[in-house]
Amino acid sequence: MNLTMPTAISGFSKLSKSEKIEWLLDTYFSNKEDARNLVQQYWNSDEKLQKLHDEFIENTITNYYLPLGVAPNFSINNKLYTIPMAIEESSVVAAASKAAKFWLDRGGFKAEVISTEKIGQVHFTYSGNFEALLSFFESVKPKLIEDTKAITKNMERRGGGILDIELKNKTEDLEHYYQLHATFETLDAMGANFINSCLEQFAKTFKAEAQAQLEDDVNIVMSILSNYVPNCLVRAEVSCPITDLKSKDITNPSLFAEKFKQAVSIAEVEPYRAVTHNKGIMNGIDAVVLATGNDFRAIEAGVHAYASKDGKYSSLTHCSIENDTFKFWIEIPLALGTVGGLTSLHPLVKFALEMLEKPSAKDLMKIVSVAGLAQNFAAVKSLTTTGIQEGHMKMHLMNILNQFEATSEEKEKIVEHFKTNVVTHSAVVEAIENVRKI
Ligand code: MEV
Repeated sequence: MNLTMPTAISGFSKLSKSEKIEWLLDTYFSNKEDARNLVQQYWNSDEKLQKLHDEFIENTITNYYLPLGVAPNFSINNKLYTIPMAIEESSVVAAASKAAKFWLDRGGFKAEVISTEKIGQVHFTYSGNFEALLSFFESVKPKLIEDTKAITKNMERRGGGILDIELKNKTEDLEHYYQLHATFETLDAMGANFINSCLEQFAKTFKAEAQAQLEDDVNIVMSILSNYVPNCLVRAEVSCPITDLKSKDITNPSLFAEKFKQAVSIAEVEPYRAVTHNKGIMNGIDAVVLATGNDFRAIEAGVHAYASKDGKYSSLTHCSIENDTFKFWIEIPLALGTVGGLTSLHPLVKFALEMLEKPSAKDLMKIVSVAGLAQNFAAVKSLTTTGIQEGHMKMHLMNILNQFEATSEEKEKIVEHFKTNVVTHSAVVEAIENVRKI
């Protein structure tokens, strides 16, 4: 099969879906038939549903599936939830479920939203006198707000809108650099479109008024929301008397509590550990964020910035032992939405939100932070007791068996075998060989 040498292509976006696929097959695949079948196998047979997915993004050729799992038994502020999780990594959902069950018997999770403020900025340069700029800003501020009325009307009716606009002098960091730093309340919406539309209107008004009123030019560089939202904070916590930690795998609760706290303290002071510790937290957070149609890249960026807020990357969770009480908590910024965006478009997102009993954005902040805390509890518990591999490899067993295309019968025998044997990649390969020899 002759492949054409990959060359740049112009007008790709104008091609139809099947023309795009044919171009890809011609350019990159030696077995076109297999590649075409694969692409088509992942299409949804319901044309309307497929079209919906095609139109989420650009140049769609097929669907990329992620499993949607659920973790039941989460008690959050005494209400029971089953949490939807979209994730490809084995053992994450099992760990969340296990942590949920563990804390269900010990008072459950408590969560509270501390604040809900979002941020956006108009970045601009100005080389004139600062006092003149400041007094111009103060005089034009009411008009900045007035000119966004068409955008803010509905949000204001529901109780949200623009909270404030400040002028920030950033010239010590960068020559001639200033900002309009605006804060917003966007209620149940994540608010990106609302904030960006307001900011672009601020920029327009600001520029036009500056031209009329200021001697020196204002040059708008860009207007965009910030995904760093340190004042959109949620806190989730679990606590219980140390003796209540006793369970099948925690035979010495005081030792467990001390070692667990030590592990969290290490993540607080040691960035190399903190990154992995927080990665485990994000296993839980991203999975729920994705399942509920929110932007996990925005959440990731904001959360990791928050983890470095004191100048050194650190743990997002904390632990204390006081008066024989074990307490473990997380405090993170989460700008989430339960209306707008994918929430009303993606059928599985609607399904996930219905499963969570149509949460407000504040409810979802609590649920997501709890998923992160539960995940971290499970990981640190394993790490400080059995080690992570025992549970992880058990869950990973099915992936290895699928890699070797094991039949249901082979799987059954091998899973039985590993109930009493340590799972390693080579041990599984050996077990497959043995089963196939028989
Ligand atoms: C693996 O996805 C996540 C962990 O590495 C997290 C941790 O080390 O705390 C297990």
